[in-house]
Amino acid sequence: MIILGLETSCDETSAAVIRGGTEILSNVIYSQRVHARFGGVVPELAGREHIKKIIPIIDEALSEAGLTFNEIDCFAATFGPGLVGALLVGLSMAKSLAYFNDKSFCAVNHLEGHIFANRLSSPDMSDRFITLLVSGGHTMLVDVDGWGNYEILGKTLDDAAGEAFDKVGKLLSLGYPGGPAIDKAATGGDRDRYQFPRALPGNRLDFSYSGLKTAVALQVQKRSPDQLEKEKADIAASFQEAVVDSLIRKTMLAAKQKGRNLVALSGGVAANSRLREKLQMTCDQKGLRLVFPPPILCTDNAAMVAAVADWQIGQKGKSNLDINAVPYQKLL
Ligand code: KG4
Ligand code: ZN
Repeated sequence: MIILGLETSCDETSAAVIRGGTEILSNVIYSQRVHARFGGVVPELAGREHIKKIIPIIDEALSEAGLTFNEIDCFAATFGPGLVGALLVGLSMAKSLAYFNDKSFCAVNHLEGHIFANRLSSPDMSDRFITLLVSGGHTMLVDVDGWGNYEILGKTLDDAAGEAFDKVGKLLSLGYPGGPAIDKAATGGDRDRYQFPRALPGNRLDFSYSGLKTAVALQVQKRSPDQLEKEKADIAASFQEAVVDSLIRKTMLAAKQKGRNLVALSGGVAANSRLREKLQMTCDQKGLRLVFPPPILCTDNAAMVAAVADWQIGQKGKSNLDINAVPYQKLL
């Protein structure tokens, strides 16, 4: 089956074509730049940008794949969670394309898309694993007992990990989004210079990042702009280490509790180089297999949406055309 997937839940306009569930023929991603000057995503502008870009991005994805609309079997789009005005652009487009070309339509859960990104990059992986799903809006540990069969083991009590990266990026004047900027700024920084808090030290599998963000804010306030400039790399590296440590510790606890020997990383924060490096070392020490998608499949993209659609159509059949956008859609 050949699927054209669309992803417009936040500030990436993306269209992808995949064949046979895992072969990516194209995956075109446009990251909206309009939000940078506001230091965060402006929902109204996101929707308007998607409307401007969606058709050229679809055309590019089809031409890269060397296909026409006629050769697509199913049009898929994210229906939630996300910004309602943004979601509606991709969703309405996929429904219209399916309707007018007399093909199937498939509505996809964005969070499930992040998990399925691993299936694209590691098609041989077992379907029983622990996944750490870390993005701008979500931080959760999920036990996967077969694709589509999820148990949420823990989640954040306040900020998502990506949100913490973005807020600290702002504190350090690194621009938006803060995640990739901190990842870069931390290179060469001393990650042991500041002992920032690692919240919820017990056995529970939830996360908390608001205390860590406040601890960084206090350090920032103490410094003059010149001093801050000099110590930026150390603060970024120490903050990143605190986030990474808590994510890894809880992931290891979850794998142990569930007796899983496969761990998968998902979501935008899974692109973080220190998280990938340190989690790999930890998994190697404990004899666990670790998989993670390449960075381009960690952050929002339409290939992951098409990957879910391929599996979902096989399991549950196509979606109804009356399905609406659901901004607060949960994984389960
Ligand atoms: O999954 P995603 O693209 O969108 C959501 O579904 O939220 O995740 C975006 C988040 C942002 O908070 C961004 O700062 C973070 O992922 N991110 C990173 C890195 N790349 C993206 N965080 C840390 N290190 C990175 N390299
Ligand atoms: Zn996402």
